[in-house]
Amino acid sequence: GSTRFYDFKVQTLRVTKLCNTKEIVTINKKFPGPVVYAQEDDRIIVKVTNETPYNATIHWHGVRQKLSCWFDGPSYITQCPIQAGQTFTYEFTLVKQKGTFFWHAHVSWLRATVYGAIVVYPKTGVPYPFKHPYEEHIVILGEYWLKDVVQLEQQVLASGGAAPPADAFTINSHPGPNYNCSRNDVYKIDVVPGKTYMLRLINAALNMENFFAIAYHKLTVVEADAEYTKSFTTDRVMLGPGQTMNVLVTADQPIGKYSMAMGPYMSAKNVSFQNISAVAYFQYVGAAPNSLSLPANLPSFNDNLAVKTVMDGLRSLNPVDVPEEIDASLFVTVGLNVNKCRSKTPQKNCQGTNNGTFAASMNNITFMKPTISILEAYYKKIDGQFTEDFPGAPLKFYDFVNGAPNNAPNNTQARNGTRTKVLEFGSRVQIIFQDTGTVTTENHPIHLHGYSFYVIGYGTGNFNPQTANFNLIDPPYMNTIGVPVGGWAVIRFVADNPGVWFMHCHLDIHQSWGLGAVLIVENGKGPLETLPHPPADLPRC
Ligand code: C2O
Repeated sequence: GSTRFYDFKVQTLRVTKLCNTKEIVTINKKFPGPVVYAQEDDRIIVKVTNETPYNATIHWHGVRQKLSCWFDGPSYITQCPIQAGQTFTYEFTLVKQKGTFFWHAHVSWLRATVYGAIVVYPKTGVPYPFKHPYEEHIVILGEYWLKDVVQLEQQVLASGGAAPPADAFTINSHPGPNYNCSRNDVYKIDVVPGKTYMLRLINAALNMENFFAIAYHKLTVVEADAEYTKSFTTDRVMLGPGQTMNVLVTADQPIGKYSMAMGPYMSAKNVSFQNISAVAYFQYVGAAPNSLSLPANLPSFNDNLAVKTVMDGLRSLNPVDVPEEIDASLFVTVGLNVNKCRSKTPQKNCQGTNNGTFAASMNNITFMKPTISILEAYYKKIDGQFTEDFPGAPLKFYDFVNGAPNNAPNNTQARNGTRTKVLEFGSRVQIIFQDTGTVTTENHPIHLHGYSFYVIGYGTGNFNPQTANFNLIDPPYMNTIGVPVGGWAVIRFVADNPGVWFMHCHLDIHQSWGLGAVLIVENGKGPLETLPHPPADLPRC
């Protein structure tokens, strides 16, 4: 492959949206940020210079970072933040990877505005495994806040209560006509009748999973999380934050102006959110410019069956290599809980259910970030930053689904910790995720860094090894899996990429509450099984 250089300057930009003007953090004053274009096996070099007062890092979501964990980007996991005025150069190779990815900030809630697409084409002369589209378009789903998002995260954590909903959903940063002052703040694709378009869908929303649909048009899914899928035609798709999907759309309807809409998927109960959709236009050449757009038919916000239908449709196109035997098996509960508030002043920290503090956990451990990166501490053998005792099963075992939220155990508190699970190089790993929670159950988009994994099974209720059905024939190869609300999902992968890899819910509020854990994959013995030395310009905390 060839080498592609990009210059990313973290810069503030004044934008006016929803009748309000504010400064947001961007890359190169673009919102969404610049697109990184490449081909399979290319080397990518991105020099990131931080010209804002905020801490920054960039994560290359879905890029497996083979032997390049130092450049993965999650703050306090693989690097310290790039502080004001500092520069860090990310260098990695897209080893056997192509498709739609995205990059985003991975510190505080900066990701709300610091994101952009990564488009990796097949090698020269290699066609797509479907009819080449007439045109391709990047469609990024997002959320927009009128408040400063970095302060907002701090306020939410200090209150102990829930996070306020976004002020708008956006498509390529445009809220569209359903929002105040946004009639002209709308994204549009002009289409030629009869032609087929490929949309590279990316969900970059901060705190919401989302449905996407186009009025009267079918979507044919051909790729999910940057891996080809068997073609699957549907009226709508659902993407959790962190997920990407390529869909083909043929302009086969009467000439007109059609809505492309993004609405919420919210499986939790009693949560406040905006049940309104961001709308963009899929507009035929020849349609009257002022014609009314035909509305898209999104599922209702709590349509779990619609989500299951999309999941059921995702099947690997290429032959798969699912480990049949397992060396390391983890049972990981993912969920929200309430901890005792730490303050005697009720305004502070105590605004969760029953005057508690909202928290989240994996196996009842609320993940706490260390003060330097875990990768650096691990590599340099610096004590006191993390422990290696992440439990292989929940600390307190209870009847997850039926236990929550009405019949929760008496002690519903999680323990704080920065616990990691060490995996031997080359081990075949299975993780069973079980949604739970003492506040509510909810679909959680769980993302694993450094790997794609086979999603071999999922279902509702408590995981039961006797009745669970596994697909070892054509499971999808993903990097983010929406664990069904009150249900379970099972993934498998081979731990062949040494390093320190974050595994977390991609809803940022859940990540802030501690819904994460870290997997450490040890070095192997061969030269291509060992993590190289850290780069000289690695930021310091
Ligand atoms: Cu896209 Cu750790 O995230």
